[in-house]
Amino acid sequence: MADVVDLRSDTLTRPTEEMRQAMARAEVGDDVYGEDPTVRALEERVAGLLGHEAALFTPTGSMANVLAVRTVVGVGQEVLCESSAHIARAELGAHAAYTGLTMRTWTADRGQIDLPAVRKLFAPDMGPFFVPTAAVAVENTHNFAGGAVLPLEDLQALRTWADEVGTRIHMDGARIWNAHVATGTPLASYGAVADVMAVCLSKGLGAPIGSLVVGSAEAIAESRVWRKRMGGGMRQVGILAAAGLHALDHHLERLADDHAHARLLAEACGVDPAEVDTNIVVVERSSAADAAALIAAAAAEGVRLAAAGPTTVRLVTHLGVSRDDAERAAALLARLV
Ligand SMILES: Cc1ncc(COP(=O)(O)O)c(C=O)c1O
Repeated sequence: MADVVDLRSDTLTRPTEEMRQAMARAEVGDDVYGEDPTVRALEERVAGLLGHEAALFTPTGSMANVLAVRTVVGVGQEVLCESSAHIARAELGAHAAYTGLTMRTWTADRGQIDLPAVRKLFAPDMGPFFVPTAAVAVENTHNFAGGAVLPLEDLQALRTWADEVGTRIHMDGARIWNAHVATGTPLASYGAVADVMAVCLSKGLGAPIGSLVVGSAEAIAESRVWRKRMGGGMRQVGILAAAGLHALDHHLERLADDHAHARLLAEACGVDPAEVDTNIVVVERSSAADAAALIAAAAAEGVRLAAAGPTTVRLVTHLGVSRDDAERAAALLARLV
C-alpha cells in the first residue's frame, strides 16, 4: 500500500530534518532559572508578534489555556464561552479542577461570537446569589466548528463592549496562525482584542511540543508561578523552543497550502469549499454507522480520518500532507462519499 495519508489531526506532524537540526543546535540553559536563551528568544518573539508584553512557554495548549484563563477568572467566578469551545469540551474539566471556576456558554453556528447572547449571559455582580462573570473566552480558529475564523470586526465589537462593561477577554489562539494566513489579518490585530491568549506551535506549525501564554508582564509572571506549581517547570527546554522558532521561520506562510488542500478535500466530500476557512473539514453523515463506515473504508485504502461526534467525520490538513497526498485522498473520498 502507498504511504498512509493521515488526516486525523494537525497534531500528527513529525519534525522535519531541518527542524531536528535546529533543535540539535539549540543553545540551552535551565529555564526554571530563566536561563534558557532559546526559550527566552521564543517567548519574546511570540509576545512581539501578538503585540503583548510577555509570553511563557508551556508543554501543551491545554496548560496554556488553564494558565491564561486563571489570570482573568478566579475561584468561584465564571468565564463565558461558546458551547463547543475547546476549554469547555476537551480540557477534561481542568479549569474547574485547578482554578475552581465555572463556565456558561452560548451556542452559535460555526462557533462564532454572539454578542447579544454574551450580553444576556453577562452577570458580573448579582450579589451573593449568582456566580460573577469575570471574562469571556473566544477560540480563533474554532476547532470543533471546522477551523472557522472569527472575523476581526466581531472580535473588535466584543472588545469595545468588554471595555465598556469592564470585563476581560481570553483568546484560545491554538490556531491563530491559520486565521492570520487565511485572512491576512496581522497577528497583532488579533492580539489587540485579547487581554490574554494561548497559542500553539504543535498544531499546523509542525513543532513536536510547545504552546505559549501571551499577555501582560504581570499575567505572565503569575503564570510562571502557576506553571511551576502544576509541574510544568521545564529545564533545558530550549531544544523544544528551537523547534518553535524554526516553525515560525519556515512553516507559517505554508499554512496557505494546508488551506488549499482542505478546500480540495471539502469539494471531494460534497462540502461547500466556501465554508472551509482554514485547514479543517467537517463532514456530516446521516448516521453513526455511516460515519464509522466512511472512516473504515478510507482507512482500508490508506487515508485516515477522525470521528468528531457521533455522525461527524473530521479531516485536517497539515505539514505532513503534500499536494499529492491531498489529491490522492480527494480522489478516494469522492468515490466513497
Ligand atoms: C483550539 C484548541 N485549543 C487548545 C488545544 C489544546 O492543545 P494541547 O493538545 O496541546 O493540549 C487544542 C488541541 O487540539 C485546540 O484545538
